Amino acid sequence: MKLTILTLFPEMFPSILNESIIKRAINNNLVEVNLINFRDFATNKHKTVDDTPYGGGAGMLLQVEPIYRALKSIPGSDTALKILLTPQGKLYNQSIAKDLLDNEHIILVCGHYEGFDERVRDYIDLEISIGDYVLTGGEIAALAIMDSVIRLIPGALGSEDSYIHDSFYEDSLDYPQYTKPREFDGKKVPDVLLSGNHAEIAKWRENQKQKRTKERRPDLLKKTQQ
Ligand code: 6GU
Repeated sequence: MKLTILTLFPEMFPSILNESIIKRAINNNLVEVNLINFRDFATNKHKTVDDTPYGGGAGMLLQVEPIYRALKSIPGSDTALKILLTPQGKLYNQSIAKDLLDNEHIILVCGHYEGFDERVRDYIDLEISIGDYVLTGGEIAALAIMDSVIRLIPGALGSEDSYIHDSFYEDSLDYPQYTKPREFDGKKVPDVLLSGNHAEIAKWRENQKQKRTKERRPDLLKKTQQ
């Protein structure tokens, strides 16, 4: 899989990409990440990529031409899935992450400032938001999407199927887990987990999953029943 990021702040990315699972996936050629600063595609000598809105109003808007030119410069951009990160986009979730995995090449366009010239949208396939709050730019959203997709690439996680146990893998939250010591500050690990009875453990975990999801995220259960 290939991920290309269009951003005015490429230096926001390496610290996250150079750690842990993502670093290993890149080093093992499971994913290729390219960062493009679309300021390099500015059309004026001052290299500005934003301007004031027609009709007036506060703030600056990203212009369409530098983004258009940056997109055109990417080999295979015509067939890549082009995503715009915006609070106006479709709300991101695990199901979208799994769908994104089917794409050979994804281009993530990060905005900044007050917004985009509306015509940017004509060159985009999908708009995504990562939640109902406002970020200063799309970079953190792009990183969240990249992380959630890369870890689903077969072979990216150490043990092949460990993502199957993730919260949200089947629209439910994970069960409680414990590690050593057996007792801490008077709080004991549930007996069933020490029993060695794998059938009982599996039953307990399934019950805990359902209980936890019902208590914390009843909306997820409704989704499964739809
Ligand atoms: Cl994708 N961008 C910005 N600027 N804010 C957001 C967002 C994206 N998703 C949630 N808030």
